Amino acid sequence: MDKFSTKYSELDDSESQDEPFLSGSRGKRFELKSSVYIWVLWGTQIAFFCVSLILLLVAKRHKPTEAECTPILHSYSPAFEAIEYYETNFPRDFGEPSPYRGTPSIEKDNIWQDLWDYGAINVSKEKQAELNHTTPREGTTWRYTDEKFGGGPAALIWGFHQIHCIDVLRMASYRDHYQKRHNEFGEDMPFVFEGPEYLVRIHIDHCIEMLRIDAMCKADMTPFFIEMEPTAPLGYRADFSVHQKCRNYEKLQQWTLDHTAIF
Ligand SMILES: *[C@@H]1O[C@H](CO)[C@@H](O)[C@H](O)[C@H]1NC(C)=O
Ligand SMILES: *[C@@H]1O[C@H](CO)[C@@H](O)[C@H](O)[C@H]1NC(C)=O
Repeated sequence: MDKFSTKYSELDDSESQDEPFLSGSRGKRFELKSSVYIWVLWGTQIAFFCVSLILLLVAKRHKPTEAECTPILHSYSPAFEAIEYYETNFPRDFGEPSPYRGTPSIEKDNIWQDLWDYGAINVSKEKQAELNHTTPREGTTWRYTDEKFGGGPAALIWGFHQIHCIDVLRMASYRDHYQKRHNEFGEDMPFVFEGPEYLVRIHIDHCIEMLRIDAMCKADMTPFFIEMEPTAPLGYRADFSVHQKCRNYEKLQQWTLDHTAIF
């Protein structure tokens, strides 16, 4: 506004009031030029302002996609491309039946193993560095995949290891049962019970510790509710049907099968 008024005050008063935009005298030429210049300037300013405002509104309305959020909230994985989310309620009851529950059988052991028994995949050197693993421990080297799989560092999938650990605890909780079957029918003991007893103990303790650290790391703060129920021993009970946002596990199993470099 300041520039505006000083430019106008430079002009001859009477002339500018009568015919402000006609050329003729030097003053009028100056007046025409400068006012066109000022209008262009203001027009540009306003245009820029409007464009910025529109961009701001568009940016505010843009909801980031799940694919955009995953790499921000989670450590890198080449399997990001296969991550898909869905919402669900978990099973409700304490004793909710499941093919994964109950006394072990060969079939049960097999479906458990199918949840976690996957090979290693190829990761690029750059991404290995992003995962803060540039140099191997002294006296060791990284294992690499074959050239035909990329020739990068080989890596297992953490989530599968966690399920493996749950499986180890499941088997440990049925150790007597396995032992009985072994003694009576000569069935093989699960691999966790092979080797000296102190190693069996370390394996089980390792799994408990990894699951603890991982659960605390992910620190799931999702609320679940309490039902008042007069027939329950305490008069109320937990409703385990917590609402969760989950990853499609089958898709990730398939992705891993498709990218297995070391079986
Ligand atoms: C990266 O790895 C090094 C060596 O293992 C460790 O000392 C350091 O704390 C790690 N950095 C982060 C951010 O985790
Ligand atoms: C496998 O590793 C190599 C070497 O680091 C890398 O160049 C390549 O991109 C990786 N392939 C995949 C699919 O990650």
